[in-house]
Amino acid sequence: NNPPWPAFRGYHEYSFAHATMSARLPTILGKAIDDTTRTLNEQSDEERVLDLVRCIERMEELMSDLGSNRKLRPIVDDGEADVALWNKEIAKYFQGESTSHIITGKDFMNAPWLFAEAYKYRRLRESFAVSKFWNDYDVFYRQKCDTFSRSAEAVFELSMRFAEPFTLAENLSDEEKLEAERLMFLELTQVCLWGNSTDLSLLINMTEDQIKALQSTGGDHLAATEKNILGNHLPKLWETVKELRGKTGGRIDFVLDNAGFELYCDCVYADFLIQSGLAKTVHFHGKRYPWFVSDVTRKDWNWLLNTMVYGQLFPKASDQEMESLRRLGLRWKQYEKEGKWIYEQHPFWCTGYTFWDLLSEAPDLFLHLSRSDLVIFKGDLNHRKLTYDCHAPASTTFEHAIGPMASSAGAPKVASLRTVKSDVVVGLGDEGDELAEKLDKEEPGWKISGKYAVVLLSEGRPG
Ligand code: F6P
Ligand code: MG
Repeated sequence: NNPPWPAFRGYHEYSFAHATMSARLPTILGKAIDDTTRTLNEQSDEERVLDLVRCIERMEELMSDLGSNRKLRPIVDDGEADVALWNKEIAKYFQGESTSHIITGKDFMNAPWLFAEAYKYRRLRESFAVSKFWNDYDVFYRQKCDTFSRSAEAVFELSMRFAEPFTLAENLSDEEKLEAERLMFLELTQVCLWGNSTDLSLLINMTEDQIKALQSTGGDHLAATEKNILGNHLPKLWETVKELRGKTGGRIDFVLDNAGFELYCDCVYADFLIQSGLAKTVHFHGKRYPWFVSDVTRKDWNWLLNTMVYGQLFPKASDQEMESLRRLGLRWKQYEKEGKWIYEQHPFWCTGYTFWDLLSEAPDLFLHLSRSDLVIFKGDLNHRKLTYDCHAPASTTFEHAIGPMASSAGAPKVASLRTVKSDVVVGLGDEGDELAEKLDKEEPGWKISGKYAVVLLSEGRPG
């Protein structure tokens, strides 16, 4: 069940794996400790203080394990639903059970990058999950909320346009209506795609201007950015989605990535899919606990909807702008009440497995997804997981790269909307290897800048 290419690992100095494992993760962890210390300094109750001090000690222990490149020890039984899945995979490293080139290595640097990086977030979770009072503490929460509050310009640009329900002029022919919908679909797919460039794990300490530059959503801007979609199945995606209307299920799933602005863009897109009748229901899949800094948890989901309706996040906004945000938020909450939008959080999403193992390790989730008409995976990490995060050539077809998620009986249609922020790049077409080589020479940082993207679709396989 493995692809023919080796996975990236922390000791691969030529890859982003190395910079991440040796420099970025300790920085992120250091900031998490700072955040918790800030919370500690605000406490008065001795029992709670002591309990939080222990959480900090556990994070410091993790920092030391990471810094000394220790072996990945099993996860303590902290009550999370994924402990057994984690420890089963960790045990494999020690039993030498697999001789494959994929499963070797035991420490942070020689285990597969994806697994070792996910493991760090799992240990961070453990640091709080075993505590008495701080089980729900999210070390990234302040950052996530703060970045959304600094995204005012793009937030209001979208809310002022989309608060008013989506309608098509009466005098249009059926053909013209479909064309208007197609254009709207293409635009909003891009809004949803580029929403992924605001990722806190890469852009720690962005200025407001930097955020603005990343989030400009105007029409001209979108036409220009389509050139940066190196593997572009947008037309094919529209052909797929337009067939969903009137279908019995009409269900689209989003496997979410980041909270705040990206989630807001996902919701604007999902709102259009519901209003246009292209989808009857949308399922959103989030994480059960803080993950890769900015990923969506249920708390982030609730926070976004409630802050839109009741919040005072944007002191400089006009009454009209605030009203547009409130209306959008109210509509979205109503979708949730009516069961048109469903938020879910399966334990599998917070494991170190790639999606090549989704069917074997989480068959219930695979079955659930196989009932969807289209599953949209957002972002870089989900893309790494779909493609096994390995050295596949850029000309590899998306279907080939995602293995069982395309070829298993019952595999749903799968789309990946991802801005390129790490090494694995596939689906660039027959000339893809040449293009990748050219970019390697001309723009050495092209795989981590978030300037480029892919929109890739796999047609799935009926069960
Ligand atoms: O730490 C590296 C990484 O996993 C990259 O995949 C990416 O840079 C980032 O973290 C997560 O990005 P995203 O939020 O788009 O999944
Ligand atoms: Mg993320």
